[in-house]
Amino acid sequence: MSTQDTILVTGGMGFIGSNFILTWIKANGAAVLNPTSVVNLDRLTYAGNPANLAALEGNPRYSFTRGDICDAELVASLLREHRPRAIVHFAAESHVDRSITSPEEFIRTNVHGTFVLLEQARAYWNGLSPADKENFRFLHVSTDEVYGTLGPHDPAFSETTPYAPNSPYAASKAGSDHLARAYFHTFHIPVLTTNCSNNYGPYQFPEKLIPLMILNALEGKPLPVYGDGKNVRDWLFVEDHCAAIRAVLERGRPGETYNIGGSSEKANIDVVHTICSLVDEMRPEPGSAPRTRLITYVQDRPGHDRRYAIDATKITRELGWQPAEKFETGLRKTVQWYLENSAWIDSVRTGAYREWIAKNYAERLVL
Ligand code: NAD
Ligand code: DAU
Repeated sequence: MSTQDTILVTGGMGFIGSNFILTWIKANGAAVLNPTSVVNLDRLTYAGNPANLAALEGNPRYSFTRGDICDAELVASLLREHRPRAIVHFAAESHVDRSITSPEEFIRTNVHGTFVLLEQARAYWNGLSPADKENFRFLHVSTDEVYGTLGPHDPAFSETTPYAPNSPYAASKAGSDHLARAYFHTFHIPVLTTNCSNNYGPYQFPEKLIPLMILNALEGKPLPVYGDGKNVRDWLFVEDHCAAIRAVLERGRPGETYNIGGSSEKANIDVVHTICSLVDEMRPEPGSAPRTRLITYVQDRPGHDRRYAIDATKITRELGWQPAEKFETGLRKTVQWYLENSAWIDSVRTGAYREWIAKNYAERLVL
């Protein structure tokens, strides 16, 4: 039986996965794969939010299954039923601070879950016709954190930079990357891996730097900057990441890895200052008190990587991808989105969210 015009997305209720599905449906799929529908498998952890894809309710091109990527039988049955021509694997535990307080779930989902998916993909792929085998893609979505940390003058991470993960999160993603690589080399399954820098944009859970700072600034709460605030991240608007993933699915070479980045390195403290200015401008406080007054330096994250930077030459040269959004315009759009979506914000700030915020920040010394 041949594959259908379907892709299986894991973790599609999370931040990047939901943006990917929304933009995929909108773009009507990539030219070569030409899919018409998306099957979303998501466990709905604290980070998965059905409200992200409320716009697709009733859409015949979209279906959702609540379930765990570690559940081999469930994955096998979805592959049997939908016969996808690609798996796009986003599902993961993704927050570094949580991996420091509770690493086990990161190993379970990120390492074991990726193994289960690869194994089920292998069994499924073995039963395909030669043409479908060749066209099939397993796209493993990963992170630049697997490469470790850079000094101020080091060259940016390239696809040949040795792996040196420093947090349990980064180590679990590195483990999953190695499995993905091995399944290509040993079993010849057309696996591709992307390693991307920090994303920002709509639907990001407010435990991560940018949405946390926007919401705290709006509500007059302290803006907790770790350490000296000079750690550097490369920022990419989430829709640019989604476009890069579409390009890799469409034109990437199986077995290859592609680094994706925004060429937009910023120190955390500069990001926080920019957020303060945008919130001051869009939602001025009585008396125009500047939000920068809320900046509070707090105890650093243990093992905090100093700098990430991405050399995206390969994906630009081979696949013609480059980011469309500049950080300044992307951040403005993002602040605007959080201002306009208070119902979404209320829906994610549950009791469990408040517990996490209390746990992560209450015990951090103010410097
Ligand atoms: P997220 O935490 O917002 O979403 C993760 C999603 O996975 C959630 O919907 C959650 O319910 C689901 N999930 C978790 N465990 C699962 C399981 N066992 N089975 C099924 N579903 C499960 O994450 P994100 O920020 O959207 O990141 C998505 C992927 O992109 C991750 O693999 C992450 O490592 C990678 N990545 C993220 C960034 C970033 O800046 N956020 C950058 C580069 C790469
Ligand atoms: O580089 C890609 C990675 O980017 C992804 O793989 C991860 O899934 C994603 O969470 C992100 O990891 P970071 O650790 O870089 O993101 P986070 O938003 O947690 O933190 C960004 C920077 O801001 C980091 O240097 C820590 C700092 N920070 C973070 C928080 C939550 C603060 O100073 N204060 C905070 O309260």
